[in-house]
Amino acid sequence: MRTVPVELGARSYQITIGRDLLGRIGAMTSAVAEGASAYIITDTNVGPLYADAVAGSLSAGGYAASVVTFPAGEPNKTLATISDLFDRIFAAPRPPERGSVVVALGGGVAGDMAGFVAATLLRGVAFVQVPTSLLADVDSSVGGKTGVDHATGKNLIGAFHQPRGVFIDTDALATLPPVELASGMAECVKHGIIRDLSLVEWIEQHAGELMGGEPDLLGELIARNVAIKAAVVAADEREAGERAHLNFGHTIGHAIEAVAGFEPGADEQDYLRHGHCVALGMVAANRIAVGRDLLAETDTTRIESLLKAVNLPTRREGLADIDVLGIMRRDKKVRGGAIRFVLPAGALGRVDIHADVTDKEILDAIEYLSGS
Ligand SMILES: NC(=O)c1ccc[n+]([C@@H]2O[C@H](COP(=O)([O-])OP(=O)(O)OC[C@H]3O[C@@H](n4cnc5c(N)ncnc54)[C@H](O)[C@@H]3O)[C@@H](O)[C@H]2O)c1
Ligand SMILES: [Zn+2]
Repeated sequence: MRTVPVELGARSYQITIGRDLLGRIGAMTSAVAEGASAYIITDTNVGPLYADAVAGSLSAGGYAASVVTFPAGEPNKTLATISDLFDRIFAAPRPPERGSVVVALGGGVAGDMAGFVAATLLRGVAFVQVPTSLLADVDSSVGGKTGVDHATGKNLIGAFHQPRGVFIDTDALATLPPVELASGMAECVKHGIIRDLSLVEWIEQHAGELMGGEPDLLGELIARNVAIKAAVVAADEREAGERAHLNFGHTIGHAIEAVAGFEPGADEQDYLRHGHCVALGMVAANRIAVGRDLLAETDTTRIESLLKAVNLPTRREGLADIDVLGIMRRDKKVRGGAIRFVLPAGALGRVDIHADVTDKEILDAIEYLSGS
């Protein structure tokens, strides 16, 4: 078992990573959040696999535990789903009280929505994260950003609400579909590019075993990544400065996700997950950086090879025909401020923020993504 601290003063907590943890969630939760009732928020894929084990453990830990399930998938990360979750929480055999605990069980969608429920239920109750996707393990379960999407754009409604603890059972990754494992790897490559060249090297060395699901290596991968995320969040919890570095690849990535990522179409393989969009966004950002002499051409081809090795896309036909720039502008308007790009700062492993990237640079990068 490994632990990584998240240092946030009075809101500090620990991330615990290990195998066979689900049966210990009750004991681990009661160590950080005393309470009479617990609401496990999970989706229709993860619930049938793991909710019984978590509910049983919470019951053994002294909680009246209820499981509240929502339909899996990013299109359901909405206020309508939140409203339905509240209806069911208030109708639970043991109604919520200020001391209740919300338990997020699932990927980033379950975590973001459970966190938002916890932030707003009775003006805020304790919550713990039990992430089950690689993306949630290495990224979304840590840092306290919670919320839902709006038709206007992603993650436009939400709150900061830190968990009391993050309990990562790496055995849960055994049931994660390979396409979702790849999606999570995008955030790992991102962490390497923004903070740690040795992580990029390590993923290069172990790509095959990691994608094969080797549990010890996945545990090490998660520990290295949450340590980076925890350090960034500890330095800048509310994203006044360096936390924005975590948005590397996300400026163009989110715009791609808004048009190409949301609809799980007839062809499952063609549906771009969050990480797939981030991979394309990182390729585009690197392209812009090369044009500004901020990154060597060899470094961008190196990252593209690595993305391919972990089954992520580096090109997307037809993107140039979509108004990606228009979506970025709309997003900028809604959030306020300039379109801010995170770009490598001379080499892999460090980045800077740029507010002066031109439309032409963005359009050229999207053109590059659309090529072969
Ligand atoms: N809050 C943050 O700081 C933050 C950071 C990054 C991403 N996010 C958000 O996270 C979301 C993406 O997260 P995600 O990729 O985990 O999506 P997700 O929650 O939709 O999970 C992906 C799919 O895998 C399934 N799944 C998860 N764990 C499983 C398991 N162990 N076995 C079988 N199936 C499993 C889910 O049911 C879903 O179908 C996005 O909404 C993104 O905006 C939030
Ligand atoms: Zn992301």
